[in-house]
Amino acid sequence: MDKKIILGIETSCDETAAAVVDSGTKIISNIVASQASLHATFGGIVPEVASRQHILAISTVINAAMSEAEMKINDLDGIAVTYGPGLAGSLLVGLNAAKGLSFGSSVPLLPVNHLEGHVYATWLNESNKLEEIDFPLLCLIVSGGHTDLALMSAHGQFKLINRTRDDAAGEAFDKAARVLGLGYPGGPEIQKAAEKAKGTEKPFPRPKVKNSNDFSFSGLKTSLIQRAVDKRIYPREDDTCVDSELVNEISFAFQEAVVDTLVDRTLKVASELSVKGIIVSGGVAANSCLRSRIEEKSPLPVVMPKPALCTDNGAMIASAGYFKFKELPLTKWDLDILPGLRIGEQGF
Ligand code: KG4
Ligand code: ZN
Repeated sequence: MDKKIILGIETSCDETAAAVVDSGTKIISNIVASQASLHATFGGIVPEVASRQHILAISTVINAAMSEAEMKINDLDGIAVTYGPGLAGSLLVGLNAAKGLSFGSSVPLLPVNHLEGHVYATWLNESNKLEEIDFPLLCLIVSGGHTDLALMSAHGQFKLINRTRDDAAGEAFDKAARVLGLGYPGGPEIQKAAEKAKGTEKPFPRPKVKNSNDFSFSGLKTSLIQRAVDKRIYPREDDTCVDSELVNEISFAFQEAVVDTLVDRTLKVASELSVKGIIVSGGVAANSCLRSRIEEKSPLPVVMPKPALCTDNGAMIASAGYFKFKELPLTKWDLDILPGLRIGEQGF
């Protein structure tokens, strides 16, 4: 039997996470310690707070994943870890923990690109439509730091096609939520507010980049700020928001503009590249409006991880590690973190 039981470790942003996955598809254990409430008091992630929190949590999280899987380190065939992209101080904690475990046990270390991890969360679905779809696939990866369209031609083979020129979609949701006086992370808060709206607010313009399929969300953010200023809900004296109906309506209009832009651009690129299917992944892929809109409008099959696996977790890293290194396990002791790594790049 080839290598199959992989421990995945993820600390690129504000979740300390570890999971044990069998054959890249079956979750045996999955532990996520979120720092969201810690960062909520600041309205966003504070990098130094994040890395210190990873230091405090990492051993407990890895131990919990191993004990829930009822396994010892030597039962593993590989230790997959995110080495980029992400926050430098946060990445260092996970990578060093993984190196230590690998060094002490001789279990191979498998370096994983976080963005490729998001795509592989799709392989963790219980009933997997992917078995019926061939490559090439177009992957929309929408997270707090990225909005990428990547062509996946085979397992572990990615090519970046389009990206955001400025803010990522998740970042736009987080900033919009802050302007509207909603909590952090902003995406789920905007979604909740939008669900209560009647759709009475004037639509926001759909952002476009001239002669390109790239994304751009900073202009939309400026329009939202302008609208909030005009309606006298921003800036506020304190954090409490007075007119929650108006906030719901603006949230709805904003979410519609982001979702329409993501869906239209993805379907356009998918048709230009003649792919066989579409994967939507990353934290923003948990958005129910995005999920239903793309399924409704796409002529091609669309696959998404279940919402709980869209945001950062160790299982997606274990799955990516399994598929990428199935044939050739790799241990690279001088591996460094790569905070600016792009999808499709290895960087070493
Ligand atoms: O992938 P992720 O967990 O971390 C990064 O790699 O960045 O994504 C986090 C992002 C945040 O910006 C958060 O607001 C957004 O995903 N997000 C959502 C939803 N859930 C999380 N955005 C829209 N709707 C949601 N339901
Ligand atoms: Zn992520």
